[in-house]
Amino acid sequence: MMKIFKTQRALKEHLSSIEEELVVGFAPTMGSLHEGHLSLIRESKKRCDIVVCSIFVNPTQFNVVSDFENYPKDYFEDIELLKSAGCDVLFLPNDVDEVYKNEKKVSLDLGNIINVLEGEHRPGHFDGVMRVVKLLFDIVQPDKAFFGLKDFQQFLVIQKMAKVLNMEIEVLGCDIVREENGLAMSSRNKRLSNTELKNALVLQKALNHCKNNFGKMGLQDLQAECFGILQKESEPEYFEICDAESLSPITEVSEPQKIRAFTATSIGEIRLIDNMEIV
Ligand code: PAF
Repeated sequence: MMKIFKTQRALKEHLSSIEEELVVGFAPTMGSLHEGHLSLIRESKKRCDIVVCSIFVNPTQFNVVSDFENYPKDYFEDIELLKSAGCDVLFLPNDVDEVYKNEKKVSLDLGNIINVLEGEHRPGHFDGVMRVVKLLFDIVQPDKAFFGLKDFQQFLVIQKMAKVLNMEIEVLGCDIVREENGLAMSSRNKRLSNTELKNALVLQKALNHCKNNFGKMGLQDLQAECFGILQKESEPEYFEICDAESLSPITEVSEPQKIRAFTATSIGEIRLIDNMEIV
């Protein structure tokens, strides 16, 4: 039976009654759950004894107010999905204060990875993500935490935050879950019309073009071609080919560097992101 807690206090009390040697896994979410989220719960189930999930739409990470206001906040279906995926504990705070009330702000310098890509295009976004994830980590105190690699940069930021703050939490990234047609699963997909859903395949098209042509032409030309593909069906913000650890744009291909391509583009009103391992 999944237990649901609405307050920090009740959740902490429950978690403190769990035997020391049991491994606690945690997947923080903002609800509106899909297979991508459920894959985190399943991975956590495989690797841990107790699986904790949180659903909290965190206002501090939205840099556009209407985006926060339009974010779906109906959790009935989410609760059923979590139960069926085998989640043991759900933290479902009633309001923002329940999460933020004991916050002790820390200022962190995580360097380049926080200033590029989403950091550059959504000012303040990662500050909000780090604030809430730190608070949730402090409340749940998991041994392992699970994040989807669709938000690859977020995963790197949180992994680095946990390291810099000496938190004894293993931060793990789980593969992107895609629809059969290749569209990365996202809560935002629910807000796309049928035509927009077709147009959204352009992200996958551009990323595949990058992977298939990498090394066959100059990097700048390749990047420009991928941006051009995106422009046909959407309004792209960026298409970048980066080192997968530092997130610095690559200028030349040197072995044995791991390289990933990242993109953000808007389909109508909806902003989507995606990324792909290139080599
Ligand atoms: O990826 C998300 O859903 C959110 O950014 C997270 C990690 C739950 C923090 O609010």
